[in-house]
Amino acid sequence: MSNLSKDIEEILITEEQLKEKVAEMGRIITKDYEGKNLMLICILKGAATFMSDLSRAIDLPLSIDFMAVSSYGCSTCSSGIVKIIKDLDMSIEKKDVLIVEDIIDSGLTLSYLRRTLLGRKPNSLKICTILDKPERRETHVKVDYSGFKIPDRFVVGYGLDFDEKYRNLPYIGVLKPELYN
Ligand code: PRP
Ligand code: MN
Ligand code: MG
Repeated sequence: MSNLSKDIEEILITEEQLKEKVAEMGRIITKDYEGKNLMLICILKGAATFMSDLSRAIDLPLSIDFMAVSSYGCSTCSSGIVKIIKDLDMSIEKKDVLIVEDIIDSGLTLSYLRRTLLGRKPNSLKICTILDKPERRETHVKVDYSGFKIPDRFVVGYGLDFDEKYRNLPYIGVLKPELYN
């Protein structure tokens, strides 16, 4: 067993399933954004892995930018406080912006981002996430492209961390509870 896999209790979504889903999402986005001014905004750090795969699954000219926000007061709970750590480099005015996220949990990060970015006058603004935990939602967010709905379990991998580790796991796994208790 690999060094990282020994900390995983169960594989929730395999590497193959992720690959297929990302390809499918890329095809849908390619159709929807043909002739538009697509700009992908990656929400660091969790969405970096998904962004890298998704951008290459979209067969259109596009631009990319990165933003870092913090929403978690501690490593496993949501504080509801959202702060911009790193803002975008480019203007989004007149762009067809697609926010790329790894997971929507309480929804607080995205509802804040949506409000903030809409104020910058994009031509359109949509949200794309590979994972969604609907049970944990504290505020309504309209998700335009969603990969997998998952139960309320502590997942890591494919960009998602626990204490900044496990982001490089190629699949989505459930962390053994003894590691965070
Ligand atoms: C996680 C995740 C989302 C956000 C979702 O990021 O990547 O960005 O929380 O939570 P919410 O729906 O409750 O707001 P985190 O703040 O852990 O930072 P990271 O991406 O750098 O790991
Ligand atoms: Mn994140
Ligand atoms: Mg995190």
